[in-house]
Amino acid sequence: MSIQEQYGPIADLRLAREKLALGALARRYFAHDFEGRTHARNVARLAVRLGRAFSLPRHDLIAIAVGATLHDIGKLTVPAAVLETPRMLTSAEWAVVRTHPARGDVLVSPLIRHPIVRSAIRWHHERIDGRGYPDRLSGPEIPLPARIVAVADAYEALVAARPYSAPRSAAAALAELVECAGSQFDAECVRRLVAIDRSTSGGEADPSARSRRATRRAPTTGVRSTSRTSRAWSASSFGCGP
Ligand SMILES: [Fe+2]
Repeated sequence: MSIQEQYGPIADLRLAREKLALGALARRYFAHDFEGRTHARNVARLAVRLGRAFSLPRHDLIAIAVGATLHDIGKLTVPAAVLETPRMLTSAEWAVVRTHPARGDVLVSPLIRHPIVRSAIRWHHERIDGRGYPDRLSGPEIPLPARIVAVADAYEALVAARPYSAPRSAAAALAELVECAGSQFDAECVRRLVAIDRSTSGGEADPSARSRRATRRAPTTGVRSTSRTSRAWSASSFGCGP
């Protein structure tokens, strides 16, 4: 397959070249973070499905896939002592963690200029109500690709087994996203995710979620575990609260 066939029109070659430039950075990030790599892959797959639901063009979907894969790359520059703490974070540590989207944007800025990729990295923790970070954008100020990645990121975090939480069922994860639609998450993105779920055999927005739960389900009910090990801070990456 030629590079044109793989990446689309010749105009997309810049993005392809930027993807290659980012390869080393991504490998550096994911080499020591298997959980992060799996999460990033799943977020990218789901974000692309959501992008298709908005009938976005192919080159935008490619950019969304790249941005979703690298959305948390800023964690490379957050001290490991903070990321891997086995306890609840202090407010000062939280402040550091909340810099990871901006850190990621700065990190990739010499390598990539594509606005979709950059927006997914910088604004995937912005909220529709303006209470997100790092720039406190609100509503349509947040580009659609970033809103898509935010929803995919939250869904994947909910259905995945983490050290600090039992995995949600697809239905429970969607219910939580619906509850937060219009405040934390873009309501239309959530609506289209629900539609994807309904149109998918078995009712899974992401069919791989079922197999993940089957193999990694915690020996508890669907209620999130209170045990906290590494990355305890990630448990607060979603939810409608302040
Ligand atoms: Fe993040």
